Amino acid sequence: MYKIEDIINKVHCADCLELMKDIPDKSVDLVLTDPPYGVNLDYDIYQDTEENWFKLMEKIIPEVKRVAKMVIMPSCQIKRLKWIYNHFPPDWLICWIGIEISPEYCKIAKERLRQEVLF
Ligand SMILES: C[S@@+](CC[C@H](N)C(=O)[O-])C[C@H]1O[C@@H](n2cnc3c(N)ncnc32)[C@H](O)[C@@H]1O
Repeated sequence: MYKIEDIINKVHCADCLELMKDIPDKSVDLVLTDPPYGVNLDYDIYQDTEENWFKLMEKIIPEVKRVAKMVIMPSCQIKRLKWIYNHFPPDWLICWIGIEISPEYCKIAKERLRQEVLF
């Protein structure tokens, strides 16, 4: 397990799921994370499929809630949001609708762009 003073104020280029395993419970004030959306965006190594998104969230949400006192995480698409609500009910949710955003992203999201931020 890391001592928090050994890892703060550094950029860690790592698989966050591996790195977090050694971070003590509630030792981080805030996790602000922008995980993949499961809409087939073209990332370098992560395969952004819907199936992988569910698997990723089952690992990532309990772990970020364990290490952090507060979590802020964007989500997108109603289907993903419903899944999060059913599996890991958030304490709060902010939702807004964006109109000035890339047409490519709106095409991928297959609906008017809406963004939720939760936990
Ligand atoms: C929605 S994008 C974030 C984009 C970023 N906020 C930006 O503005 O450029 C999600 C990113 O998470 C990365 N990722 C997926 N799984 C990861 C993991 N286990 N550890 C670290 N990064 C991961 C993906 O490769 C992708 O770059």
